Formats: sequence, C-alpha cells, structure tokens
Amino acid sequence: MAGEKSNQMNKLINQLIPGGAHTYSKCDDQFPSNAPKFLAKGEGCYCYDVEGNKFIDWGMGLGSVILGHCYPRVVDAAVEQIKLGANFSRPSPVELELAELLVEIIPSAEMCKFAKNGSNVTTAAVKLARAYTKRDYVALCGDHPFFSFDDWFIGTKVCNAGIPDVIKELSLTFRYNNVESLKELFVKYPGKIAAVILEPVTFYPPEKDYLQNVQQIANENGAVLVFDEMLTGFRWHLSGAQKFFEVTPDISTFGKALGNGFSVSAIVGKKDIMELGGIKNKKERVFLLSTTHGAETHSLSAAIANINELRDKNVIQHIWRIGKMLQDCIKDLIDEKKLNKYFEIIGYPCRPLLVFKESSAGTALELNTLFLQEMFEQNILIQGFMITYSHGETEVKETLSAIDKALTDCSIAIKKNSILESLDGPVIKPVFRTYN
Ligand SMILES: Cc1ncc(COP(=O)(O)O)c(C=O)c1O
Repeated sequence: MAGEKSNQMNKLINQLIPGGAHTYSKCDDQFPSNAPKFLAKGEGCYCYDVEGNKFIDWGMGLGSVILGHCYPRVVDAAVEQIKLGANFSRPSPVELELAELLVEIIPSAEMCKFAKNGSNVTTAAVKLARAYTKRDYVALCGDHPFFSFDDWFIGTKVCNAGIPDVIKELSLTFRYNNVESLKELFVKYPGKIAAVILEPVTFYPPEKDYLQNVQQIANENGAVLVFDEMLTGFRWHLSGAQKFFEVTPDISTFGKALGNGFSVSAIVGKKDIMELGGIKNKKERVFLLSTTHGAETHSLSAAIANINELRDKNVIQHIWRIGKMLQDCIKDLIDEKKLNKYFEIIGYPCRPLLVFKESSAGTALELNTLFLQEMFEQNILIQGFMITYSHGETEVKETLSAIDKALTDCSIAIKKNSILESLDGPVIKPVFRTYN
C-alpha cells in the first residue's frame, strides 16, 4: 500500500505533469488504488517503490526491459560510452556498429535509422511510404492497440481532440486475420493507399497464411508493407516475428526491448525505400528523422550490448520457457477453480495474456481491477507478462502462488456478486476514451 510520502508525491506530480506520467499506460487510472504510486529502483526482475517495498515486476517498463533492470552488461556498455561523450556534431562509430548489427539480424533491414521512441519510427514509416508511393491513405490494423501518439493513429481513436478531420480521414482500418477487410479497402480506395501497417502478431496466431496474404495484397496494390515489431521484436525471435513467420515486410519498426530500457528505436527496411531519406540520391528528398538526440551514444551502446547478450545467452528461449510454465500453471488454476467463464490465459508463451471476461458478476474492467488489487496486495506488479531473462523459477513459483490466492478471492467476490464492493478504489479505465 502506498505510504504518506508517495501519496504526497502523487498529488504533486498530477499538478505538475498532465496525467501524472509520460505514457497514459502509466497513469493512476490504469492501476488499482493499492498499486505503488512511484517506482524508485529496479534490480533484475524486482522493483522498489519510494517507501522501499519490493515487488516482482512483470511490467518491466512496458516491455522495454528484456534482460532485467540494471543489467550489468548493458549498464557497463552505456557507462563506458557516456565517459566518451553523450552526443557529437558528427556521427559516432556506435551508430555504424548498431546499424551493422541490425542489418545482420533482421531480414527486412537493408538500411536503418534511429530515434528515441516507437512512435517516432512508426510515423517515419508512414511518411516514407507516402513519399515512396506518392499516395496519402494509410491502412492500419484496427485490432492492434497502439502504433503511435501521432495524429495518423490517434485520429482513429475516440480521444482524437486536436486532430483535424482531413488527417483522420486518411487513416483506414482493417481487421487482423481477415484478408477480406483489407481487400475491401483497396477496392474502395484504388491507387490511394500508401502503407499497410500492423503488428505481425499480438495474442492470436495468424491464420491460414494471413501474413503472407497481407504481403501479397499490399504488393499487388503497390502499397508498402510495414510490420510494427515494437513488442514482437526480440520476444518471438532474435530476428523479429518477421523471421518467426518467414514474412519479410518492406519496412519494420523496433523499439521497446531494443535497448533494455534505454531510449532507442529504429526504422529498418528495404534500401530503395529507406534511401529516400538520404542525401545521395537524385529523387525528391524525404525529410525523414532528423533529431538532436536520435543517436545519443550511450543508448546505442546499450542496444548493441543488449542484442549481443540476447544472442549469447539464448535469452529468447528462456523467455518462451518461463512463459510456457506460467501459461500452463495459470490455465490449470483457472480450470481447477472452475473460473473459465471469467478468466482465460491466451497468447504465445513469449507473451501470455490473462483475459478478464464480462459476466453477470461485473464488467471485465471491474474483475481486472480486483485481480490486480489482490496481486499488488501480495507485492506482484503485474500489468501483462513482460518476461525477461531475470525472471526465473523462483519468481514464477511466487507469482503462481499469488495468482492462486487472487483467483480464489475473485471467485469469492464473483459468487457473492460483490466485485465492485471488494474494490478499495476506482475501477481502472480504458486508455482510449473521449472524456475522463
Ligand atoms: C506496437 C507498438 N507500437 C508503437 C508503440 C509506441 O512506442 P513508444 O511508446 O516508444 O512511442 C507502442 C507502445 O506501446 C507499441 O506497443
């Protein structure tokens, strides 16, 4: 439970920073009232709040940390680089080194460009595709939760204040695992769609060669295929989900786990498209990514060390093994307690998801809030499962025992029809909503 110090800090931060955090996923309204309000320190797969309470961390900086907090090889690489200087007025050798590494491991990467956030590079991908095709529309997968905070994506959501209609109208949506919905867009907007953008996979597997079909439809219609690998990157495969599913897009975007928590993202892709952002071709220039901090040296060094460690330690195999253990045992717990009407564990082992279902006992969000409340009560920070190399069997065991208790508590509340009354604070809210 948050103490006096963090309650005071929480009040202040909400007065000084809109939302009190720097992504809406970290705001108060995404957590039950007993969640820690500030996290001051991380170590491996543990984190500590400002009162010194220790949590097993399954959130891991929204999936940006894949080896563990303060992972020595990454921290050492970053610190060594900082000692040489954080930023220069000409490129530093680490830029070349990381570009070479990405070109080596990612099938779609013939050229790369770096930035600080995922949104920067997905937006850059859309811009490049528009310039390459000389078309304005973009087709994005409406089932995928997030691509960018920029207008081309947020314009498709209910919280689109400040975005002109002319921009909103250029973003079209299709459904995952539904090739017809994509084909229909190309029929309705012939010769007008610049890019098809989607995550290669989230929680449901692509069915009936879905990704191959999407690629074929994009190719046949002259659109650029973009895979957003922000979350799949380095969890499905060291070479991305594009390697796992053997479909090579024209452009792909990486971020999150690329730097084990350091701020670095990348757009990578085919040379003839990426080159438009260069200065050596004769074509019309695309003012691609041009940022003071895009090549901050220590973040790039962190990314190089991170990728090398992922490769040297077979980290992805570890993530799949831990995830499978979690998934199998959670499924058994749900079955044993006969709670299948209310909970389901889905997804690939490298990224499991516990789904909360609406029932006569309450809404999915109410049940979700109660479950999280019971988990935080046992010092488990769980907002999805972002498995890292630092999570081992000890943490799995402890987490499963907490889940066992949380499910029992939820089950009691469900039977008594008292989910809402069992909550110590407000129900968590959807990130995308028109009013607070
Ligand atoms: C799939 C996907 N793409 C893009 C982004 C945006 O990344 P960032 O928050 O680094 O801008 C996210 C962030 O959650 C994401 O999950």
